[in-house]
Amino acid sequence: MSMVRSVRASAPGKVNIALRVGGVRSDGFHPLDTIFEALDLRDDVEARLADELSMSIRGLGEDLPVDESNLVIRAAQLLKERYGSRTGLDIAPEDLGAQLTVTKRIPVAGGMAGGSADAAATLVALNELWMLGLSGAELHECAAELGSDVPFSLLGGLARGTSRGEELQSLSSNQTHGWVMLINPHGLSTPAVFREFDALGLGHGQVPDTAAVTDVLAGPTTGSEHRALLGSVLANDLEEPARSLRSDVATIIDTIRAHIAAGVLGAHAVMLSGSGPTIAVLAEPTNLDSLSGRLGKLFPELTPVVATGPVRGTHLVR
Ligand code: C5P
Repeated sequence: MSMVRSVRASAPGKVNIALRVGGVRSDGFHPLDTIFEALDLRDDVEARLADELSMSIRGLGEDLPVDESNLVIRAAQLLKERYGSRTGLDIAPEDLGAQLTVTKRIPVAGGMAGGSADAAATLVALNELWMLGLSGAELHECAAELGSDVPFSLLGGLARGTSRGEELQSLSSNQTHGWVMLINPHGLSTPAVFREFDALGLGHGQVPDTAAVTDVLAGPTTGSEHRALLGSVLANDLEEPARSLRSDVATIIDTIRAHIAAGVLGAHAVMLSGSGPTIAVLAEPTNLDSLSGRLGKLFPELTPVVATGPVRGTHLVR
């Protein structure tokens, strides 16, 4: 294997087609049953060999911290500390460094796992750059330590996630789903939404399951019939706490739902994306540009972004 000085990895954002949540566990996390779909809205991380570890951000999120509070730096430190001794480079493990440049297209604090995608891309890029030779299972373990959504960013496609979202089972589907993601200029913190879920007394007993969605994904319908049926079973248990924290989010969802019910929008369904505040509208892949234009006019304060899924997980870009 020859030494490379710079590598780039690309990682997808996600939407939760279903997100069912149970009562809080003793470790502070909530048990989930969720269906993730990877979207063709992707962040890149370019890693160059350097003496120190450092990062910079381009595109969205240029004002985000670039220190240890950023998951990119935490991912790099975790790899270096745990697996640095495996490096195939002629460098002492403690001297491994990299300059990491993140190109962000996935909205920040938007419930689309942008920070998790950056961590996943960092793991894949540094595994290659530092010639660590980690297996898929080892990468997955690091990912799960970094955050609940990082393992899915690695895996991509369509998958069912259980436990806190890190236990994954791939699902196959050859159907394409079109989405208009409505990005809100004001982010919403994931822990705050889960706390509000608890405060509202939601989530007790068993986690509601995602069978309604997995049945449609595995079922015989195709094309627009499949997407319309999928639209009738989407479910996100974090919608109620997000609505409770943010009346603007509740109003936008209600308005879009009323338009869809009246058959005047040309979309199948609307739901909160992850923990919000991004709102996801399911539609025909051929209709996304015109739908995006209409939604942009209806809600000038939001930025519509067109996406389709499922797409592949984190990979190196040659
Ligand atoms: O795992 P991650 O760092 O993405 O989670 C951020 C926060 O979201 C957690 O600290 C927790 O408050 C909340 N969370 C949760 N249950 C989950 C996932 C996240 O309560 N399954």
